[in-house]
Amino acid sequence: MIPYGKQNITSEDIQSVIDVLKSEYLTQGPKIKEFEDAFAKYIGAKYAVAVSNGTAALHLSTMAMNVKSGDKVITTPITFAASANCVKYCGGEVVFSDIDPDTYLLDIKSVKRLLEDSPKGTYKGIIPVNFAGRAVNLEEFHKLAEKYDLWIIEDACHAPGGYFIDSNGIKQNCGNGNFANLSIFSFHPVKHIACGEGGMITTNDKNLYKSLLKLRTHGITKDESTYTNSIGFAGGKDSYPAWYMEMQELGYNYRLTDFQAALGTSQLKRADEGVALRRKIAEKYNSAFEGLTFIKGQSGVEDGHAYHLYIIEVEDRLGLYNYLREQKIFAQIHYIPCHLMPYYRNLGWKEGDLPNAENYYKHCISLPMYPTLTDEEQDYIIKTIRNFITQ
Ligand SMILES: Cc1ncc(COP(=O)(O)O)c(C=O)c1O
Repeated sequence: MIPYGKQNITSEDIQSVIDVLKSEYLTQGPKIKEFEDAFAKYIGAKYAVAVSNGTAALHLSTMAMNVKSGDKVITTPITFAASANCVKYCGGEVVFSDIDPDTYLLDIKSVKRLLEDSPKGTYKGIIPVNFAGRAVNLEEFHKLAEKYDLWIIEDACHAPGGYFIDSNGIKQNCGNGNFANLSIFSFHPVKHIACGEGGMITTNDKNLYKSLLKLRTHGITKDESTYTNSIGFAGGKDSYPAWYMEMQELGYNYRLTDFQAALGTSQLKRADEGVALRRKIAEKYNSAFEGLTFIKGQSGVEDGHAYHLYIIEVEDRLGLYNYLREQKIFAQIHYIPCHLMPYYRNLGWKEGDLPNAENYYKHCISLPMYPTLTDEEQDYIIKTIRNFITQ
């Protein structure tokens, strides 16, 4: 059986987890900060906050950006539901905007139209997604965000190691915090870095960083300089006693464990190697499918694409999907448009609202893409797809 995505666990990874299991701390120990520092360095951001999963990262991010009841936030319909749901967790309203049919990313032109058609202040933020691993040009979104006073939360779950080239010719890594207020990542096993479950938020904003640290752990702080209760109340004489802490706002337990963090740090050492292998696989698919007229579109080979997914569009998607399954190749569909999920339909979204996303969904199929996919396996996938047309 060949799945569409798979983790890559080495003996070093396993040893790193065992070492933590034998150590003093299973959670809230030194491995968290180690992972955060290594990740921030890899991405090129100032701060990183490790959390229990990508959804928690999104939820804390919308909390940190102060999303409140009725606040309108724009995102893409072609993403995992969590990119939109995080707005709902805070009582906000999700406004889906259509994708660019060539890149499959949130189309800046349709976002512009939304913004121009409403009074300034209608929208609070944008959540662009580096879907499939292709980097959004955040410089352009940032300009728009400045004009309309919007914040940006970049959903970079698919794109650690991805980048775009800015207008000065400079490489801008996904999640580096130069254009987004916050960026979030997931360490689910099909992602580039696997922790089992896990997530990270990166930012260059110190205040947001501090706020996220607190929200991650129930809104509790041990930073004396921010205490509001008196020393006397706390039970001290001249200073706060060592046990004292304050819960200053409503937070959650969204912590990562130390053994997950150790696995993440160990995996991170092979992150670039993983992206290079994914790129090689993409190049091979790309040249194998060149000139095949039954394929309408494909991810292609893009600089800065981190290739979480390799997507093609075909006329008979159901036929190809079933044929591949019969041959033990488990392709996947990314994604059923969020706005047409029953939950969002019940909020008023309907077919025809976002034609590019809906048309894309009719044809898209994600082929197996992961660093340990062998040459033989990929040859077999390519041959099977070719057989499908000629059968
Ligand atoms: C684009 C995107 N955003 C958010 C998430 C949520 O991450 P997690 O599964 O770690 O909660 C995912 C994971 O599938 C994702 O693909």
